[in-house]
Amino acid sequence: MPRRLYGVREIGPSELRAGRVEPHYQKVLVRLLSAHAIAEKLTALGYQRALDTVADSSLHPLIRKNLAEERRHARLIYKVLEEIGVAESAADRSMMRVLKSPSFEAPRYFAERAEGETDLLMASLALDATGLLMIGINYRDSSYAPHARAADIILEEEAEHDEFASMLLGRAVERLGAERVIDALRRWLPRAVNFFGPPGTGFTYDCLRYGLKSRDNQELADLFLTMLERRARQLGITLPALTPDYPHTAA
Ligand SMILES: [Fe+2]
Ligand SMILES: [Fe+2]
Repeated sequence: MPRRLYGVREIGPSELRAGRVEPHYQKVLVRLLSAHAIAEKLTALGYQRALDTVADSSLHPLIRKNLAEERRHARLIYKVLEEIGVAESAADRSMMRVLKSPSFEAPRYFAERAEGETDLLMASLALDATGLLMIGINYRDSSYAPHARAADIILEEEAEHDEFASMLLGRAVERLGAERVIDALRRWLPRAVNFFGPPGTGFTYDCLRYGLKSRDNQELADLFLTMLERRARQLGITLPALTPDYPHTAA
């Protein structure tokens, strides 16, 4: 682990303007915020799509609630970017190549191709349960104060989204049976774990050094799997095995 140069919430826009941080800091920050913002935006689009593809209308009020909250999360992060002169369109453009990588397959699939309740459940596990860890562990302790403050707001709602995913998982096992849920997990679990991103990259090294993240992607992915394994075991199912290296696939 590299030595952390800046403390929790130590930096704000005025420190950036005054040039009190390493010049590379802002570039790394903008890339991280752009990835966070577009992940929130795609998640919102996924919930929007779910309103059309999920037949059971008793789930719609909760889908609508999540949709509104994900939109707000996206807006919060784009606002942090705008404060330092990066427009939403520029941020999104800078993500075009990254969006095609395996780490963005989960939010893209949710926004573009997901169909029905099982995909909704899996996307919620793959995006909300993972987001809770990334935001709660990494961004809340960010050296960049506006990102850490946005994380405080997002976290409360993400905790509820995670409960929603948990509820849906129990319901799916009950209604569809363990076999079909395990089958869906075979498709979705690799996407969920890949969402944390590749381990040990130069970009993450920079994030750790600048205090924009506090854990490596691998560590968070392992935490997620441990948490999900426990949840699955309570419901009497075993998670499908994954290949060991990023990008993971079902083994
Ligand atoms: Fe969110
Ligand atoms: Fe969420």
